[in-house]
Amino acid sequence: MDWKSKVIFLTGASSGIGEALAIALATKGATLGLFARREALMKDLASRCERSGGTARVFAADVTDAAAIHQAADALRNEFGRIDILIANAGIGGNNAETRDLQPDAVKKVIDINLMGAVNAVHAVLPDMLERKSGQLVAISSLAGFRGLPKSAAYSASKAGMTAFFESVRLDVQHKGVDVTIIQPGFIKTPLTEGRHNKMPFLMELDDAIPLFINAIERKKKFAAFPWQLATIVRAGRIFPAWLYDRVAGRARYRE
Ligand SMILES: NC(=O)c1ccc[n+]([C@@H]2O[C@H](COP(=O)([O-])OP(=O)(O)OC[C@H]3O[C@@H](n4cnc5c(N)ncnc54)[C@H](OP(=O)(O)O)[C@@H]3O)[C@@H](O)[C@H]2O)c1
Repeated sequence: MDWKSKVIFLTGASSGIGEALAIALATKGATLGLFARREALMKDLASRCERSGGTARVFAADVTDAAAIHQAADALRNEFGRIDILIANAGIGGNNAETRDLQPDAVKKVIDINLMGAVNAVHAVLPDMLERKSGQLVAISSLAGFRGLPKSAAYSASKAGMTAFFESVRLDVQHKGVDVTIIQPGFIKTPLTEGRHNKMPFLMELDDAIPLFINAIERKKKFAAFPWQLATIVRAGRIFPAWLYDRVAGRARYRE
């Protein structure tokens, strides 16, 4: 893929996977629209992107604000002519007592950011991609979206919804020049997983994970799940009958 010619709209750019992806793609010469709430972090990241050989613009807003995402996408398109790739990455783990207690406001927040935030981003870029018959939507979903997980109802639901949303969109755009890539990572060391005491099997270093994200985008994979060990276990779990799944997954001590 000729990254030098690509204009990328990246949500959740201020830390973790988004930040590392921004630097890696800037190093390849890409133009990036960095979107998240923490402006100071993104300004610093934008300078690092430019020093690495890329071009970067900063848009500080909340993904749940549909109008703000539209404005950011418009500004990026106005300056660079188009958006080639959306990476819908913004998300929260919802790892707190309110969410685990299934308090509706807390659950809604996780679903609003993780699922509706991605919906807002898709809505801001897809019509123009369809008009140009060219583009790629990338969802940073999760292995947590394959089946329900203990103590993770909100997060798991948000990621299952995200996977289903992007797969459904793919069916609608598959012959219209727009590709859809759904990435389903396991555990990666980022601020989202920092400080967790629960078991995180096959936890990956960010540096080892970033090439896998980029490879999935470059090859326009429909799905990419990693690390392979956890992806294999989670895929096997999908065909377990409910009684067996409940016994095995209900005992698991991890959460995501
Ligand atoms: N780390 C893992 O193990 C793992 C595994 C599977 C999937 N994922 C997914 O990967 C994505 C990135 O996570 P990460 O691990 O890199 O975590 P992270 O370091 O906490 O990054 C999350 C990013 O999302 C942004 N964000 C959160 N709420 C937002 C909002 N309301 N509006 C705009 N931006 C918002 C944050 O920026 P601001 O706070 O500045 O807004 C931040 O840039 C998430 O969707 C996560 O679910 C992570």
